[in-house]
Amino acid sequence: MRLLYTSEAERGRLWQALFAEHLPDVPFDIWPEMGNPQDVRYLAVWEFSRDLLSRLPNLEVIFSVGAGVDQFDLTEIPEQISVVRMIEPGIREGMVEYVTFATLVLHRDMLDYAIAQREARWFERPLTAAAHRRVGVMGLGDLGQAALRQLKSLGFPLFGWSRSQHDLDGVTCFSGEAGLQTFLGQCDILICLLPLTAETRGILNRQNLDALPKGAGLINAGRGGHLVEQDLLDALASGHLSGAVIDVLNTEPPSSDHPFWRHPRILLTPHIASSTGALSGGQVLLENVLRHEAGLPMQGLVERKRGY
Ligand code: NDP
Ligand code: OXD
Repeated sequence: MRLLYTSEAERGRLWQALFAEHLPDVPFDIWPEMGNPQDVRYLAVWEFSRDLLSRLPNLEVIFSVGAGVDQFDLTEIPEQISVVRMIEPGIREGMVEYVTFATLVLHRDMLDYAIAQREARWFERPLTAAAHRRVGVMGLGDLGQAALRQLKSLGFPLFGWSRSQHDLDGVTCFSGEAGLQTFLGQCDILICLLPLTAETRGILNRQNLDALPKGAGLINAGRGGHLVEQDLLDALASGHLSGAVIDVLNTEPPSSDHPFWRHPRILLTPHIASSTGALSGGQVLLENVLRHEAGLPMQGLVERKRGY
């Protein structure tokens, strides 16, 4: 029984050492090493080819080395193979930092000040108290809830939206189609931390952006596929939205003439909101393999029907 890892080699070597120390019965191979393909029970990957899958007849679990699984075509993975996403403290901490930073950029009008600086213009906007800036998070999973806990400490009135109804301390929660428009209507700053699925693709579209209060700001740290990019450009051009912090795009990296590169009201970052912790991610992978070996449920098991 072996584990095959096909992602970043440097991180792979750390994880290999962890497995050698704590689970020597499961050799950890870093692609292109893989021993006998018949022995591979576990695959830890970001992406994989159909060809690789067909060479691993005894595969039991595919672990995503990241939080998302939208890079997989779940319909191509045989039902008997479990798919597990990464839930670990390093990703959580990185995302909490990014969301806090991006919220403060919008809340404290930093896009205006960056424009003014480039124009050598010394100007001041009136300060809005956090208590008067409503912040809403789409996606109340591991990352959305962690972000909300931090935002709560800054004093923002908080709103949340998810598929099923949640009850979170200090957060007014909405769910499903029925709650979406009411939720959006309260968000002076909207943060997308949804997984990309058939249901959530294109959710940041004209109709939903129009439902935000005038002058609202947008943060997308979910996936590029959530946002209809032209609809954001139109909402910024009309002044309905005042600014956006965008970490993820449909095509990464974008072409050199992509309008977001030079848009004065968009702060664009190159999909760096968060990433799997080098050591903490390995520990979670190890723990999950141990749980699987012991017949216990793994943390982060993907529900195929929901797509996350
Ligand atoms: P989780 O699976 O823990 O949470 C997903 C949340 O989204 C849940 O609250 C779920 O609702 C909600 N949701 C899913 N589908 C719908 C829907 N159709 N309508 C309403 N709500 C929905 O995911 P994580 O918090 O761990 O991660 C979220 C995403 O963040 C990842 O999938 C990835 O795309 C992105 N990410 C981005 C990174 C970056 O660097 N930019 C880094 C890491 C992650 P419910 O609670 O009812 O199940
Ligand atoms: C992830 C990411 O899903 O980095 O982990 O986007």
